[in-house]
Amino acid sequence: MERTLLIIKPDAVEANNIGNILKIIVDVGFTIKAMRMTRLTRDQAAKFYGIHEGKPFFESLLDYMTSGKIVPVALERENAVAKLREVLGATDPAKADTGTIRNLYGSSIERNASHGSDSAENGKIETAFFFGEMEY
Ligand code: CMP
Repeated sequence: MERTLLIIKPDAVEANNIGNILKIIVDVGFTIKAMRMTRLTRDQAAKFYGIHEGKPFFESLLDYMTSGKIVPVALERENAVAKLREVLGATDPAKADTGTIRNLYGSSIERNASHGSDSAENGKIETAFFFGEMEY
């Protein structure tokens, strides 16, 4: 079973969309293996998004990701990474297919409601960033 990380981002938590997003996730067959509500420090956000360091949107992304609570969720399913990316839709909500999470709940390319791991390897790394094996 493949593992992937969903993060319900500060804009979606603030707008009370945690339940709406989790319903879409479980309805397409994901198992929620671990979950919590937390708030990232700037250092934690910079580490998590280290691959984007130096990009023009990096500092703004850190401001946004530390602006409120987030809900990281470790998910399992066959083809978990690809399926989560499908139900999230394109990074930019304006380009995301109708009915996808970012189309429904995102408001800009930055404030896009949710994050999903982009590869099976990153699924392992990113779930381990938030959860220890004892929590599964
Ligand atoms: P996410 O899937 O979490 O991965 C990196 C995040 O950076 C992305 O979602 C957006 O929140 C943000 N992001 C990506 N591209 C841009 C961009 N061009 N401008 C602003 N923010 C972006």
